[in-house]
Amino acid sequence: MSQKPTVLVTGASTGLGAIYADRFARRGHDLVLVARDAARMQELAKRLRTEAGVKIDILQADLTKDTDLAKVETRLRDDKHIGILVNNAGAAAHGNFLQQTGDELANLVALNVTALTRLANAVAPRFAQAGEGAIINITSVVALAPELGLTVYGATKAFVLFLTQGLHLELGPKGVYVQAVLPAATRTEIWERSGRDVNTLTGVMEADELVDAALVGFDRRELITIPPLPNADQWNTLEAARQAMLPNLAQSHAAERYRAKAA
Ligand SMILES: NC(=O)c1ccc[n+]([C@@H]2O[C@H](COP(=O)([O-])OP(=O)(O)OC[C@H]3O[C@@H](n4cnc5c(N)ncnc54)[C@H](OP(=O)(O)O)[C@@H]3O)[C@@H](O)[C@H]2O)c1
Repeated sequence: MSQKPTVLVTGASTGLGAIYADRFARRGHDLVLVARDAARMQELAKRLRTEAGVKIDILQADLTKDTDLAKVETRLRDDKHIGILVNNAGAAAHGNFLQQTGDELANLVALNVTALTRLANAVAPRFAQAGEGAIINITSVVALAPELGLTVYGATKAFVLFLTQGLHLELGPKGVYVQAVLPAATRTEIWERSGRDVNTLTGVMEADELVDAALVGFDRRELITIPPLPNADQWNTLEAARQAMLPNLAQSHAAERYRAKAA
């Protein structure tokens, strides 16, 4: 068994999750792979056991199903070897808001929001108690850009961004590192799965380049990692503007512009 912490990766059967699994295995970490497609995870595990010589467990789970999610939560609570959670599993919805059904959107929220939050919540107390551990939450640049038209998907990713910022404030002082990764369009199956053709887009990053860049941010212990953004100062300026607004938000009276004028 590796002396390094075990890494649990959700959505590890393909895409970014499979690359995270590959990279952490090559760094000498044992793995727990989580997704629905057990055959694909078996294939990946077989290759990585051979190439990297690490121990790999597979937890087949549909994270939108309560019983499956509970199985993963229990593993995160009980397995003291797990020291890194990669909260990566996610999906995008077909179509736009007027075409999407309530059930489709509930399913999207169940995976992108509820499962991700519950998994972080399952592991955080143990990490805080130990004074160490890391949670990587995969969000998206869509969280910053309602203009991109992926409204509910973007809203789920904005939730993950906020969650990560909040967890950083709560858990950081207890020794737990939390990272939000914001990819832009990256070549994975997520596009095809949500009825979009990635080949019609420009500025698409390859998945291994995205994960390798995100891991540079991880090694630097960045809170926010936006691999495609050329100038980090643009994010820093946005954050500074938000911080500057905070002292003005609590007031006993409405702002002048909202005061009703006497008739
Ligand atoms: N690719 C991009 O352009 C892009 C951009 C920004 C953010 N992201 C984010 O990056 C993360 C990874 O996405 P990706 O691009 O790698 O997508 P992907 O290639 O479609 O992979 C998604 C992974 O999530 C798993 N998954 C899907 N539904 C699941 C469920 N109900 N229960 C458990 N696992 C489930 C899939 O495995 P199974 O089908 O085997 O369950 C798969 O392993 C997502 O959070 C996504 O929102 C992607």
